[in-house]
Amino acid sequence: MVATPLAEHVAAAAPQAISELYAHFIGGRRVQPDGSPDLVRNNPAAADQVLGSLRSADVDLVRTAVRSAADAWPVWRNTPAPTRGRVLLEVARLMDQHRDELACLISLEEGKPIRDARAEVQRSINITEFMSGEGRRYGGYTSASESVSKFAFTTRQPLGVVACITPWNFPLAIPAWKIAPALIAGNSVILKPASSTPASAVRLAELFQQAGLPDGVLTVLAARGGPAAEVLLDAEEVRAVSLTGSTATGRHVAARCAARGVPVQGELGGKNAAIVLADADLDLATAGIIDGAFGSTGQRCTATSRTIVVESVADRFLERIVARARQLKIGAGLDESTDIGPAVTAEQRDSVLQYLQIGRAEGAEQVLGGEMAQPDGLPAGHWLAPTIFDRVQPSMRVAREEIFGPVLSIIRVPDAEAAFEAANGVEYGLAASVYTRDVRAIFQFVERVDVGIAHVNQPTLGGEVHLPFGGVKASGIGPHEQGREATEFFTKVKSVYINYA
Ligand code: UN1
Repeated sequence: MVATPLAEHVAAAAPQAISELYAHFIGGRRVQPDGSPDLVRNNPAAADQVLGSLRSADVDLVRTAVRSAADAWPVWRNTPAPTRGRVLLEVARLMDQHRDELACLISLEEGKPIRDARAEVQRSINITEFMSGEGRRYGGYTSASESVSKFAFTTRQPLGVVACITPWNFPLAIPAWKIAPALIAGNSVILKPASSTPASAVRLAELFQQAGLPDGVLTVLAARGGPAAEVLLDAEEVRAVSLTGSTATGRHVAARCAARGVPVQGELGGKNAAIVLADADLDLATAGIIDGAFGSTGQRCTATSRTIVVESVADRFLERIVARARQLKIGAGLDESTDIGPAVTAEQRDSVLQYLQIGRAEGAEQVLGGEMAQPDGLPAGHWLAPTIFDRVQPSMRVAREEIFGPVLSIIRVPDAEAAFEAANGVEYGLAASVYTRDVRAIFQFVERVDVGIAHVNQPTLGGEVHLPFGGVKASGIGPHEQGREATEFFTKVKSVYINYA
């Protein structure tokens, strides 16, 4: 395979130098603080190439940003909701216009295959477009009163400044699906993107500004965990926090915010199962599970990391999935023919490799992969080969813990009943899917599977923006994101009684 020279990748990724996007975005402009950069981003597909670097936000910069967001709020709060909607619609249009640039930027910064990056841009457009319409539907309801000559209604109001904390694996879409409902509801937003992927977030903020969002209403602060992040969580002006990340981080943030009575929306980990029943279309199941387990290098909270397969079809399914997984091509995200991009960082790759050792030590049967891959002709990157473990027991760590890499554990069960039980037998409850043609089994699955998102005959991945997205059990805290209810988390309700007797 001939690799595209990296210089071409970089040139294609953005008309402007990517390195300039390694900045904070405060008061409507990029800010690059003095001091030596402590946040250096390397290309995950070429580990010795630096994409950009930045001095992460310190406590003082966080305080400045919070003040700037609070100062900007009244103008936005007093902007009519349909007008706010028009700004979002313009952002959607700009994202559409810049879709290639954005997809290249995501792929370069995060490492995911360009086709996954394009899908991410489309998703960001979809949510922004959907939320722009909410500006025209925004409001409360009227109700009959118990008394004569009394008028009763509800009204919804923004909270003020809200913080959105986002992970590296969807560096554009997750920021978009938190920012859009927060803004349409009339809040000022401070976005803290993952420190490994701030450039996509800064580019998104610039598009909002270009679309007419007043300066200061959307702030991007790249900060590591620690004192600066805690100052953000503790700031009196911050009235709600929406976070996507690990369950441990989500619970830490929720506990910290609970001390001030500030609500938290947490979209957390997953250990999603795809169930293959005896009557399943095995080709359909194989395609969906390949996509679910290895797409985006398995680095998504809805990835299929367990397949629970009924014993009578297990050997036939295994043969198909191993054959298909062998054909997957590992490579740089920007190479159109890549199926599996690198892990986002060396630490993430090492954490996945450690799970492979754990799986082997626990007695799982490794039938494919199991190591770091160094594809021919490519520079040193955080490469990982797809791995499949067979005969995994539900009690093993590889069957219970979120791995966040291209690793699939196959659990064999005697029947559908045992499959549903195994699916629910983990602490997480984000997504699940079932492959079957049996209507009864489909409805039993929908009724019994304890997750926030259930799929039938399709991968465990993703969802559509007009439906809620989120999990139960250890996978979520507070209300779900997206869908028609998305703005509720970012508003407060006031019930009003007017006596006109
Ligand atoms: C998807 O599965 O397409 O962090 C979206 C994550 C999720 C988003 C997943 N919050 O992977």
